[in-house]
Amino acid sequence: MLSGTGLLVTFEGGEGAGKSTQIRRLAEALRSKGYNVLLTREPGGSPGAEAVRHVLLSGAAESFGTRMEAILFAAARNDHVEEVIRPALDEGKVVLCDRFMDSSRVYQGVTGNLQPDFIETLQRVAVDGVVPDCTLILDLPARAGLARAQRRGVAGDVAPDRFEKEELDTHEKRREAFLDIAAREPERCHVVDALQTEEALATEILAIVEQRLAPRNTQKMAEAAHE
Ligand code: TYD
Repeated sequence: MLSGTGLLVTFEGGEGAGKSTQIRRLAEALRSKGYNVLLTREPGGSPGAEAVRHVLLSGAAESFGTRMEAILFAAARNDHVEEVIRPALDEGKVVLCDRFMDSSRVYQGVTGNLQPDFIETLQRVAVDGVVPDCTLILDLPARAGLARAQRRGVAGDVAPDRFEKEELDTHEKRREAFLDIAAREPERCHVVDALQTEEALATEILAIVEQRLAPRNTQKMAEAAHE
């Protein structure tokens, strides 16, 4: 038996950075190389968390304050981790998650004005040891991201969600906050330029993730040789 330790890769960044497109492309590329991939997203990803997603993104919880929203994001995250992510990692899968704990640090912590201690305590409970091995931060100026998100909205006829509606300077603060996290945790986080072409970005992201997978593959080969 090969060891069952998977790899957790999270995608983070502001609105309109192209996370969903890039995460889909990465999933396809890894699958075509034979990896067992689970693609998931937050808020949501498990039945319980999807129910909470609706409450959060519709703005139904907004009037109860950012603490309440932060706790709801954490509740959804914990359900997602325990029901979906941890079991998939135990099976040795490569789990790709569209947003995770850094989004709470940035959206609820920094621009929601909550104390870092409060957010970190919530995150500890929410993830209970399931921390990303690798986080891709798709970076672009807030104005460019919002323009893209708006075009997507018009084309798809979807209304902006609770968080997309906020002011430009709030989105710019979020960009800075993601970059701060990357500077504090350079081992885990990779900042990639989301303004480059879709193709070039996909190539860069695949190279980063394959580098993370390499030591794991070597270990598996060594284990297989001992059997
Ligand atoms: P979503 O429709 O998934 O869009 P996208 O990830 O493409 O922006 O919206 C998720 C929204 O929820 C997004 O505006 C960020 C916000 N969010 C938080 O505020 N905190 C969190 O912990 C997470 C996971 C998301």
